[in-house]
Amino acid sequence: MNPIYASQNDEGQSGRSIHNLVYCSQASADMDDEVIASIIATARHHNPRLGITGLLVFGQGIFFQWLEGPRDNVTGLLARIAADTRHTNLVVLSQEDDIRDRLFPEWDMEWVEAADIREVLEDALQQSADEKQQRMLSQMLSEIQSGPLGS
Ligand SMILES: Cc1cc2nc3c(=O)[nH]c(=O)nc-3n(C[C@H](O)[C@H](O)[C@H](O)COP(=O)(O)O)c2cc1C
Repeated sequence: MNPIYASQNDEGQSGRSIHNLVYCSQASADMDDEVIASIIATARHHNPRLGITGLLVFGQGIFFQWLEGPRDNVTGLLARIAADTRHTNLVVLSQEDDIRDRLFPEWDMEWVEAADIREVLEDALQQSADEKQQRMLSQMLSEIQSGPLGS
């Protein structure tokens, strides 16, 4: 594990709140692997400095992103992401402050193929000892199964 993330993974212990935001959006028509790789590279450039971790899922023309970190940084980043013309129709699915550990402490921003997202979430669910985290992960799993990424 990169020590940067280990040191940022102390919100639960120190009693500091972590902000968690999940959205989905529709990719622009010309989306391809190269564009996604460049989005991930940008995220990996900015997110560590902002203390933001999470994951980005892409499949069937839909993005699904999980962002967690300090509240102001997450909402500031969301404003930048929302203005990005590489996607439209951004809908925030959930947003909350919570005192807990990060779900994805080691990932500055991981790109997960839609086919693999179930496995990632199921692994996280298995590793989580926190009831609330387990509920959130289960909710994401059911959203993915019933939503556009599930087809
Ligand atoms: C689906 C999607 C997800 C993105 N996620 C991030 C992210 O996690 N972090 C980030 O810095 N930029 C992300 N971006 C890119 C931002 O919208 C924006 O282009 C970028 O932050 C600007 O950085 P720059 O000023 O260095 O070019 C994302 C863009 C899209 C379309």
